[in-house]
Amino acid sequence: MDILEIIEAKRDKKVLNREQIHYFIENYVNGVVKDYQASALLMAIYLNGMNDEEIAILTDEMQHSGDTLDLSDIPGIKVDKHSTGGVGDKVSLVLGPMIASLGAKLAKMSGRGLGHTGGTLDKLESIPGCRINLTEEEFKKQVREIGISIIGQNTELDPADKKLYALRDVTGTVASIPLIASSVMSKKLASGSDAILLDVKYGSGAFMKTLKDAKKLAQTMVNIGKSLNKDVKAEVTDMDQPLGYAVGNNLEVKEVIETLHGRGPKDLTELCLNSGSILLEQAKIFNNRKEAKEALKENIKNGKAFEKFVEFIKWQGGDISYLYNPEKFEMAKNIIPIVSNKSGIVTKIDALTIGECSMRLGGGRETLDDVIDMSAGIVLAKKIGDTVKQGDVIATLYTNKDSFDEIKERVEHAFNISKNGRIRKKEEILIE
Ligand code: URA
Repeated sequence: MDILEIIEAKRDKKVLNREQIHYFIENYVNGVVKDYQASALLMAIYLNGMNDEEIAILTDEMQHSGDTLDLSDIPGIKVDKHSTGGVGDKVSLVLGPMIASLGAKLAKMSGRGLGHTGGTLDKLESIPGCRINLTEEEFKKQVREIGISIIGQNTELDPADKKLYALRDVTGTVASIPLIASSVMSKKLASGSDAILLDVKYGSGAFMKTLKDAKKLAQTMVNIGKSLNKDVKAEVTDMDQPLGYAVGNNLEVKEVIETLHGRGPKDLTELCLNSGSILLEQAKIFNNRKEAKEALKENIKNGKAFEKFVEFIKWQGGDISYLYNPEKFEMAKNIIPIVSNKSGIVTKIDALTIGECSMRLGGGRETLDDVIDMSAGIVLAKKIGDTVKQGDVIATLYTNKDSFDEIKERVEHAFNISKNGRIRKKEEILIE
């Protein structure tokens, strides 16, 4: 067998078998298949797709391309959650402590932010001292003893995805359902948890722009779970505006703290309660989601969810005085309010623009080598459906950069404010 034969088969819309997919993954990871050949195959997959069986095989081959984590020596059902990425998505930091405070075990490996989307690891590192590079033993001990640990992905885990993802990023082949599904699921399956909840975002700030595509991606990933006998569920949720108000690392951690105290934004709180209740049912700690949701609300009210967050950060070496006194977080030098020049109702906030602008203010990275300014970002003052009067602040920029006029203009234009705009409730569903 050679790689040319495999590229030609996919170019000609043929179905690839296990042997061919195995050959590609094994030989791409060990360097026999070159980037230009892998690029051609990725583009053929992008254009011609894959059926469910091919996607399941690709996922399985990627999952086994390196180490896999064995969590079986941690008692109980280990759960994991993953969001396909968005703007202001700080769910894991709220949800993790919430469910761990009720006995769930969240063993999560996370990624860094790239482009307009943020990453959980960067948010954690914005807390001084917080480590995201625990050893496997430390990671497991922490999950066993306190029910939660979130760390960076082990470099030996899923090397196929690391190489393929970097190549997809520069060859226009990211937005492909078979490639996203296999990328996400191979990493999650290699991380060793028993049950996985996926949050597939759709809208302007997400990879998937439409509900139809998001449902298809969610169903594809649930099907991979079924074919491998794993409990995988997928929520499909809105990313047409940023989640919550804060975008940018330490700004988001402050919002996490507020949310764990029960004072968080409505959309973020609702999503964490919904996802939390599904995970607690998957962990078999509750038999039904309604009871689980009530228990989660109770643990926010009685402070147990926040206490678990403090314990989690302390175990990972973070300075917890910042959690008790969030005003200690470094503040950006320039704080620039953006004022509306008209009155009306907010009908749209372009999440992609807000994410890109936050990145340009220093809050994100364009390439993986960029250094992030943890204090930079954007805090919205208004969300979709809010009434705005001319002269009201609609958002505030935080930056240590001295030139921001263009960003100011872009953020202002990201808001659609209209006199009689109609607001359609975005559909959110669970695929199981
Ligand atoms: N997230 C991933 O991990 N992989 C993709 O391909 C897209 C989003």
